[in-house]
Amino acid sequence: MLADKKILFGVSGSIAVYKAAEWVRELAKAGADVTVVMTEAATRFVSPLTFATLSGRRVYTGMFEPDSGEEVTHINLAKKCDLFLVAPATAQTIAKLANGFADNLLTSLALANRAKMLIFPAMNSNMYCHGATRANLARLKDYGYGIIEPDEGKLACGDEGVGRLVDWETARDALLSAFAPQDLLEKTVIITAGPTCEPFDPARHLSNRSSGKMGFALARSAKQRGARVILISGPTSLKKPSGVEVINSATALEMHDAVMDNYDRADIVVMSAAVSDYRPAKLKEKKVKKGSGSIALELVPNPDILKELGKRKGKAGSPLLVGFAAESSDHLEEGKRKLKEKKLDLIVVNDIIGTETGFASDTNQVSLIDRDYQLEKSPLLTKEECAYLIWDKIARLMQ
Ligand code: PMT
Repeated sequence: MLADKKILFGVSGSIAVYKAAEWVRELAKAGADVTVVMTEAATRFVSPLTFATLSGRRVYTGMFEPDSGEEVTHINLAKKCDLFLVAPATAQTIAKLANGFADNLLTSLALANRAKMLIFPAMNSNMYCHGATRANLARLKDYGYGIIEPDEGKLACGDEGVGRLVDWETARDALLSAFAPQDLLEKTVIITAGPTCEPFDPARHLSNRSSGKMGFALARSAKQRGARVILISGPTSLKKPSGVEVINSATALEMHDAVMDNYDRADIVVMSAAVSDYRPAKLKEKKVKKGSGSIALELVPNPDILKELGKRKGKAGSPLLVGFAAESSDHLEEGKRKLKEKKLDLIVVNDIIGTETGFASDTNQVSLIDRDYQLEKSPLLTKEECAYLIWDKIARLMQ
């Protein structure tokens, strides 16, 4: 999703420069067109050659390089970019940017730039918390710059505190947010993700193969498009998406309660969780011992969360309802049946037999059927790309 984006990547002098090199590699891998501009201090930490090799492009370090005469470098580089980021942004560079200095190529470019600007500070925590730095960052915010607050943790100087350059995942989220349409701004969305686990003794439960990847991708992309996101998740090993409210729920009953508790806040509900239709009738107090014969487990039905939401539909302010259908045969027929039965605005049908779609895969192929039975089929995409496609459709339905 960053392919062909023209990114001007400013690097100032901090030990975190080596992390910026990794970001450049990731951006180039994603197909972005990255041009790196380094301050003189940054070149002391990592050589421009490293950035040139990783970006596959010339690196700019000075205003007065011998071959920069034929073009006015700081104007031309700034004109050509879709986004300008500075990472790591040191206290010194932040102070210069806040006060309109143009004493090196990076700061001159920032003044000439009209594209979206993202600042990723990295420094010692005392420097970061100092009133001067706080005031400078506040001023940059006023200029419309996006500031991505650094992480807390052990710093290179040995101190513990805030000031670590954020990881690539957080940076990537910030970049995608900068490019994403803000069509979910002011909207609150509930997304369910992952499996539910239905215990029958202290050691064992019934569950399914859902990894949570589809639901987490939906949560991250909704956040990138400006939504307030409540992610209600069954047990997964995935990292919590930043800026998202996560509510953990293990069983279908817990997921049911979490959805109902937050329902009134929601403009959109997307149920991508694989909710167990049944649970063991009884939870044994002690672990079931291995015997010689077979054992029987009595199952009782769980509430159908989405169906219950469908029944509430029609009341003023009721949210847009989106369901998923995990199918192994008669995909579209089953999808349409569930759309109608649960009174949905949209159903996302996916196949769970193949290895590239459905459970636990990184990719998916989805068929979207809307409330007017209009069908849209996607090619095989990453789950993140699928999520974008689903939000595109939801945004159109919201209109
Ligand atoms: O997590 P991943 O590994 O990325 O896998 C993604 C996925 C395959 C789990 C996901 O894409 C998906 O298909 N989720 C829905 C799975 C499912 O339970 O489908 P269903 O056809 O059984 O249910 C239909 C809809 O009703 C779903 O939106 C489901 O969340 C909802 N439901 C089902 C049962 C129930 N008791 N309550 C519900 O609300």
